[in-house]
Amino acid sequence: MQKIGILGGGQLGKMLALAAANRDLPIWSLDKSKDFPAGPFSTKFIEGDFKNYDDVYNFGKQVDVLTIEIEHVNTDALLQLEKEGVKIHPSPRALNIIKDKGLQKQFYIDNNLPTSDFTFYDGAEAIRTAVESGDLSLPFVQKSRGGGYDGKGVAVIKTQSDLAEKLLPVPSITEPLVDIDKELAVVAARNEDGEIKTFPTVEMEFNQTANLVEFLICPANISAEIEQKATALAVKTIAAYDLCGLLAVELFLTKSGEILINEVAPRPHNSGHHTIDSCYTSQFQQHLRAIQNYPLGDTTMKTPSVMVNLLGADGYTGDAHYAGMAEVMALRGVNLHLYGKKTTKPFRKMGHATVTAESTEEAKKIAKQVQEGLVIKTV
Ligand SMILES: Nc1ncnc2c1ncn2[C@@H]1O[C@H](COP(=O)(O)OP(=O)(O)O)[C@@H](O)[C@H]1O
Ligand SMILES: [Mg+2]
Repeated sequence: MQKIGILGGGQLGKMLALAAANRDLPIWSLDKSKDFPAGPFSTKFIEGDFKNYDDVYNFGKQVDVLTIEIEHVNTDALLQLEKEGVKIHPSPRALNIIKDKGLQKQFYIDNNLPTSDFTFYDGAEAIRTAVESGDLSLPFVQKSRGGGYDGKGVAVIKTQSDLAEKLLPVPSITEPLVDIDKELAVVAARNEDGEIKTFPTVEMEFNQTANLVEFLICPANISAEIEQKATALAVKTIAAYDLCGLLAVELFLTKSGEILINEVAPRPHNSGHHTIDSCYTSQFQQHLRAIQNYPLGDTTMKTPSVMVNLLGADGYTGDAHYAGMAEVMALRGVNLHLYGKKTTKPFRKMGHATVTAESTEEAKKIAKQVQEGLVIKTV
């Protein structure tokens, strides 16, 4: 039996471990604390730092296939492990590109994949200078090259006061503000034999305050032509990266009907969570199939669904408590996935619910009731 190692022990690792349990696969996880979501569900949980060379190297030596649930891992250790024969999916080479938003954008340009224009800057001062000299004009989006997630590491700069107050003091890229009609995502998978499959395109709706996904709608309300274009682009992208496992491709559908790649994640992703409850194969099962080089599973949708991220209520930090559980459980088609994070924080992703129904309109109504009904705060 192959031992699967996962760098990271958060909710994605937990859900991967749950999928692995169905196939009786041993899952080893590496992260700072056994109290993290994947702790109780891993065959073995090693406490350590996935950013530390030795921790990653020593962990990797003990497993047969090594994968990730977060990009920001020590890739030098992965390159060494790869040399020593450990199977690593996604490849450290692809990870090095993807974990740096600047290199990622450059990769799309080099591979003739559509993405918005961008420029590299050393930090906030260089950006201010560029605006003063007329090289860069408002509005624009600044993105930290490394380390960002869930809208952290992204600043939308529209006004002079944004320019004075909101710039991030880190190596970054800037992009023009895209005139977005819809934000879409396609989760693709590829195995070592080169077989590729994609899940149906989903539509992401954002919480404007937190700048992270609130609702995920499947199927997306788009034309067959856009669906086909989005899917074809995801297939081209995963092939260009030459990686095995999942690749979640976040896309912008612009008001003029263009499709642009925003960013990708080479792992299970928030935009594939609904697949557990609404597709024949879940993204987690698919990732395991892909990294073990089995035939990929059927990605057909069983039922329309809306996924809602359950976020920590604003104004509360501390031991998490869930109010309104009974009311939410009484609603039709609700599948709750609570991650088991001990501490809640404003807008922290604490879980998600996937609501299945005959239509996405009906599912959305119920998903809103879940969002309002289940309040995550401290007592
Ligand atoms: N160039 C852009 N134009 C308009 N909105 C953008 C642009 N880039 C990012 N955004 C908005 O910010 C969100 C987060 O940006 P993203 O690069 O995906 O960062 P994260 O890693 O936090 O998901 C996007 O989903 C989108 O809503
Ligand atoms: Mg994103």
